Amino acid sequence: MTPTGNSPKILVTGGAGFIGSHTVVSLVEAGFEPVIVDDFSNSERSVLDGLRTILGRDVTCYTANCNDSAAMEAIFQKEAVIGVIHFAAYKAVGESVRLPLKYYRNNLDSLILLLELMPKYGVHNLVFSSSCTVYGQPEQLPVTEATPRLPAQSPYGNTKAISEDIIRDTVQSQAPIKALALRYFNPIGAHPSAALGELPLGVPANLVPFITQTAAGIRSSLTVYGNDYNTPDGTCIRDYIHVVDLAEAHVQALRKLNEQNTDSSYDVINIGTGRGETVLNIIKTFEQETGVNLNYTIGPRRPGDVEQVYADVTKANRDLNWTARRSLAESLRDAWRWQQKISLK
Ligand code: UD1
Repeated sequence: MTPTGNSPKILVTGGAGFIGSHTVVSLVEAGFEPVIVDDFSNSERSVLDGLRTILGRDVTCYTANCNDSAAMEAIFQKEAVIGVIHFAAYKAVGESVRLPLKYYRNNLDSLILLLELMPKYGVHNLVFSSSCTVYGQPEQLPVTEATPRLPAQSPYGNTKAISEDIIRDTVQSQAPIKALALRYFNPIGAHPSAALGELPLGVPANLVPFITQTAAGIRSSLTVYGNDYNTPDGTCIRDYIHVVDLAEAHVQALRKLNEQNTDSSYDVINIGTGRGETVLNIIKTFEQETGVNLNYTIGPRRPGDVEQVYADVTKANRDLNWTARRSLAESLRDAWRWQQKISLK
């Protein structure tokens, strides 16, 4: 695929990250021209090789920190983007508890800077990476966007809630910005080509990378964090969504914003499958799909974990004309194919 020259440009902050890189692919497939800005603090340059393998060409990429106002202003000046997808953020829950100011400084300053630069350069459309973490443990499931947010369990989670509020208040002040905050549930999987996937730094905190690393022999055993929850098998329930489905939701969000005939708007939309799966079911499905037996033990609950959360996706279906199409089995097969590829390196 070659750039057409007149494809609408989209600034993708954190475009070398797990969700960002898959979104870059979906954007190109949908006829947009992504412009990545990433400081590679939690991603690797090899992601650009993966993108080249899939797309057959290079994508413009600026190495810069999204808090660097001079660098960001220069990018807005040079690239006539028509929208921004803002992924760039720190996301390690545990680290955020130890280093809250690092999280507040990075995650909030970069958003504020974007909200200042967008009107200055006539850029109206913003898609923001939020998280189902803003719901805490909801009283009713599946969780809809009307469900009240609960106090965040970590500074990381709080940056997502505060960021949503910053966008909402900015839009309410009549700033010429149309924004959608997408509340992601649990993204897993990898590009089916195995050219892109998740690259966790150090010991993975998330379930599926820990599973694939255990299956690959990098970790000796997986600990299931608690089997005494009030769920069918006692383990926690989450809504695991294939990262390519999630990437496609961003394209639909941009299209929706582009079509909107207003100057200012803000809304939040859940992005999940609508299905809840227990940890033990993830393990069982992984074993069935890959033929690999996982070494695991049951351990104590992990502090801060909610018992169960999964999405009501009616709004995403209706407003974005989007639905998650890939199965859990496919997500786990893709995650394993990617793990096998990176284990060979
Ligand atoms: C976590 C973050 C959330 C963030 C999301 C990003 C916490 C408390 N929440 O969500 O804020 O938006 O990642 O993807 O960290 N599990 C095990 N063993 C493991 C790892 C996980 O049993 O080694 C279990 C957990 O208890 C949980 C499920 O697997 O029930 C999913 O965990 P994880 O992948 O870390 O995601 P979340 O905690 O849902």
